[in-house]
Amino acid sequence: MARRFRLRPISEVDESEVNKSGGINRREFMRLSFNTAAGLITLASLGSVGFASFLMGQKSRSSSDTAIKFYAPKGSNVWYGSMDKQPMSYQAFADEAANSTTGMSAAAGLWSGLPVIAVYVPHEENKNKPVAANVPRFQYQDGFTESGAYVGSGYEVDELEEYAPLSIHDNMVIIFARCPHLCCIPGWQLISNNFTEDSWQPGGTDEGGNKLFCICHSSRYDPTVIEKNRGNNRTTGNSFEYIGIRKTGGPAPYGMPLIPFTVNGDMIEATDEYKDWYTFCA
Ligand code: FES
Repeated sequence: MARRFRLRPISEVDESEVNKSGGINRREFMRLSFNTAAGLITLASLGSVGFASFLMGQKSRSSSDTAIKFYAPKGSNVWYGSMDKQPMSYQAFADEAANSTTGMSAAAGLWSGLPVIAVYVPHEENKNKPVAANVPRFQYQDGFTESGAYVGSGYEVDELEEYAPLSIHDNMVIIFARCPHLCCIPGWQLISNNFTEDSWQPGGTDEGGNKLFCICHSSRYDPTVIEKNRGNNRTTGNSFEYIGIRKTGGPAPYGMPLIPFTVNGDMIEATDEYKDWYTFCA
């Protein structure tokens, strides 16, 4: 029988902790977020309004809606700042990855009204090398609930037809970027700390950097670990199983789901399977 998760109560945000880690504090994060649709989502994350229809995206989409667009928070100095609101170019991720120690790159984006994070991992180049620090690859691991109950394996993306659209390809994953704690939007190295430095450790632990980091209450996610896990809808309480990335630390009860995508020429386009997964914050 599916187990329902109980969300943790809202805890005080310890801004001093955030500031200790360097980078921006929560107030600054909000300022950076407020000028776009993503800013509206952040507002919704704090419980101001219901955004169910917004989060569901657009039911009838034109071809241009399939494109995932870069979203650069105003005032930030992210590497894709000059491409803000433009369709995501696959080559841009490969070029940026070549500038990094780990060969990884990532960017925040918007797809059909949904916040996403696209993460490039040099999986094909590294998958046959010895597993070592700073030699990242995608890792398929088992997923467990908070109480330790086994849910499933990341290998199911290749073993079960229902998950076939999520098979890892093109050295990339697209992640639905709503934190399962209280629905803030995690980011890619928007702030500087040990969790977001350009480093990688194998095993899906909380060591090393290159985490997706939720500044609201410091939940961390390893975007290289693919697992099956179970979430629940905050409105209906219904549970759902999903393929996603691993939560490695913080108060979030589980990780974040993947979004199926294709690379069309140089353009990264999402497809619309598994929409149920995207409503847990609605
Ligand atoms: S919303 Fe609380 S850690 Fe993300």
